[in-house]
Amino acid sequence: MRVYDTILKKRNGMELSTEEINHLIRGYMSGSVPDYQIAAFVMAVFFQGMTARETSDLTMAIVSSGEQVDLSGIAGIKVDKHSTGGVGDKTTLVLGPLVAAAGVPVAKMSGRGLGHTGGTIDKLESIPGFNTSLDRDVFIENVNRIGISIGGQTGNLAPADKKLYALRDVTATVDSIPLIASSVMSKKIAAGADAIVLDVKTGDGAFMKTLESAADLAKAMVEIGTRVGRQTVALITDMEQPLGNTVGNALEVREAVECLRGDGPPDLRELCLVLGSHMVYLAGKAASAEEAREQLEAFIDNGRGLEKFRELVENQGGDPSFIDNLSLLPQAGEKITVYSHRDGYISGIRAEQIGIAAMTLGAGRETKDSQIDHSVGIELMKKRGDKVNGGEPLAVICANNAEKADQVKELVLRAIEISQEPPEPGKLIWGQVTPEGVKMY
Ligand code: URA
Repeated sequence: MRVYDTILKKRNGMELSTEEINHLIRGYMSGSVPDYQIAAFVMAVFFQGMTARETSDLTMAIVSSGEQVDLSGIAGIKVDKHSTGGVGDKTTLVLGPLVAAAGVPVAKMSGRGLGHTGGTIDKLESIPGFNTSLDRDVFIENVNRIGISIGGQTGNLAPADKKLYALRDVTATVDSIPLIASSVMSKKIAAGADAIVLDVKTGDGAFMKTLESAADLAKAMVEIGTRVGRQTVALITDMEQPLGNTVGNALEVREAVECLRGDGPPDLRELCLVLGSHMVYLAGKAASAEEAREQLEAFIDNGRGLEKFRELVENQGGDPSFIDNLSLLPQAGEKITVYSHRDGYISGIRAEQIGIAAMTLGAGRETKDSQIDHSVGIELMKKRGDKVNGGEPLAVICANNAEKADQVKELVLRAIEISQEPPEPGKLIWGQVTPEGVKMY
């Protein structure tokens, strides 16, 4: 089998066999296939696409390039959740404990943030003492004992994805649906999930800027999951504005606790209930997603979700006292309020710009080696559709550096759009993709 012929076949729009895809990825990993041939291959995929069968073969070839986590030591159906990346997305901190309270084993390996979107591990590390570097055995033992553990990724999972992604990044081939879908799904499958709930974001702050492209990505990922025997559901959700009111690590932990107490922002609560109810249903702990939702609502009302969160924090070495006194979380030295210059309605809050503003303050990483400042970030006082008067606060910038705060003030003002008329109502959940098909709301 010659790699040249595989590239030519794809370049001419023909379907590759499983053997050809495996041969290519194996050769790439062993070093016998050079970067320039893979670069040509991904460009051919970019233009010609892949069939659903090819995409799931590519996914499994990437999975086979490294270790696969064995979660069989944990009883029950392990359901993972994955978000394609958003601004202010702290859903894992809320729905992890809620879903665990419903008896679903939560063995969550999360990532750190890069660029304008934050990572769950960075958020958790703003909790004093919280340990996210867990040995695999300890991680599994935690889930068996208290029903939940959240740790950073360990092991050599999907190494072909790391190589492919780095190459795509420099060859203008990142935004290809089969390549993104296989990249995301390979990591979820290698991490040992039995079932997967995907949160595919759409809008300004998302990878997929249009509803159509988000739906296509969701369909491709659900198809892969179904083909490889993992029940998969995708929700297409809004990222036209940040999720909730806070962006920044400790600020987001605070908001997650508020949500578990029952007084978090409505969009965060709703998204956690919708994603969480699908997780509970896929895990077989409820007869329908509607019944699962009722369980999760009850766990917010009766405090069992918050108690599970406390257990998680204590079990991973964190000091849980901040849960009863949120001022014990890291606090920024300066709080600068941004005021509206005019009357009107908030017509948009550009999520990507707010994410970049938070990163500029130190809440996120510009490069892989940047140090995070857990205390800094942005708190929004208004959301899309709200009425605002001139002189009213729009946002609070929490900073530790006056110069950066000044820079960010401009960014935040520019990110918050004000119009004379109320905007068209947006949607939080745009649609749902299951193996049975697409349902748009
Ligand atoms: N996120 C991933 O994990 N992979 C991609 O290709 C794009 C986004």
